[in-house]
Amino acid sequence: MHTAQKIMKVFITRRIPQEGLKILSQTGVCKVSLWDSDEPVSRAELLKGVAGAHGLLCLLSDKIDTEVLDAAGPNLKVISTLSVGFDHMAMDEIKKRGVRVGYTPDVLTDATAELTVALLLATARRLPEGMVEVINGGWSTWKPLWLCGYGLSGSTVGVIGLGRIGMAIARRLKPFGVKKLLYSGRTDKSYAAEVEGEYVPLDTLVSESDFVVVSCALTPDTQGLCNKHFFCKMKNTAVFINTSRGAVVNQEDLYQALSSGQIACAGLDVTTPEPLPTDHPLLTLKNCVVLPHIGSATYSTRGIMAELSANNLLAGLQGTDMPSELKF
Ligand code: NDP
Ligand code: DGY
Repeated sequence: MHTAQKIMKVFITRRIPQEGLKILSQTGVCKVSLWDSDEPVSRAELLKGVAGAHGLLCLLSDKIDTEVLDAAGPNLKVISTLSVGFDHMAMDEIKKRGVRVGYTPDVLTDATAELTVALLLATARRLPEGMVEVINGGWSTWKPLWLCGYGLSGSTVGVIGLGRIGMAIARRLKPFGVKKLLYSGRTDKSYAAEVEGEYVPLDTLVSESDFVVVSCALTPDTQGLCNKHFFCKMKNTAVFINTSRGAVVNQEDLYQALSSGQIACAGLDVTTPEPLPTDHPLLTLKNCVVLPHIGSATYSTRGIMAELSANNLLAGLQGTDMPSELKF
């Protein structure tokens, strides 16, 4: 006799690329309820939407904490996040409840590394400032001392967190003529040999680098890592780049370092909060370039992320192997 298969309930917290929605709608395994907007779901709607769900597809801007897990209740089998970072989720609570987690490593590595290189060059060579001068009529003539910046050739680059993205950044920067590639983190990496990377203590990296690039995960250990003491050790001519998470940086200390000339300039793709309020002091500084968290924002990468997160979700619902399951 044929037993009717139970249709499971899935809540998706934002409008996501069609590639992902198509996978979920074609399986017949789940009934999808979607927060159909480009703007974040409100907390109240999130709590309502997740009630009784078997699967949750969320974004890095959704805080998945005890309240959300309680609101979901015991049906919840899987959370699939459309991100590689998972600092927005209460992992201990999730683990306690036996909920599986899917995420999107690797597929966004190249896009994020490219954006990091673009941000580094734009910051070090003062591209946004130059564009504003052209538009505002500040470009009077070619001037030998005007809009000079810093080049990568012959430089020392320090990467904090030589993981998937950190390594992809290092690979891209080396051909610019980088002389020395330093990195720091919790462990020495054998694969660093490919970029002639030298594992050094954080202090050494900070004081010797001409470019400091942050690409580590946000954890209790890295929260506020780039603070007053950190910036004080940097060279006055050094460029600071962060494409990891905003909370790795103490922004008041960064503002002081930039406005006092302690460091040369900074490029940030991530801030706290996001969005950064338009009256934030960092936005008054010419030597600070701020982007709206667009590291992985290529059409193709976002489509692949959506596909992967849909497939992770389905596997979690069906109790099969996920293409990318977070082991924690
Ligand atoms: P990985 O897990 O491959 O790399 C994370 C790195 O963080 C590891 O090398 C790890 O080093 C390092 N790390 C962990 N703890 C510390 C510490 N205490 N001090 C220094 N380093 C530490 O992740 P990915 O490279 O794929 O992604 C990294 C992060 O980038 C994500 O967590 C996310 O926050 C951010 N991201 C931002 C994007 C954007 O749009 N701007 C896009 C995608 C990701 P070790 O192995 O030695 O522990
Ligand atoms: C991530 O995946 O963690 C990024 O921040 C967005 O792609």
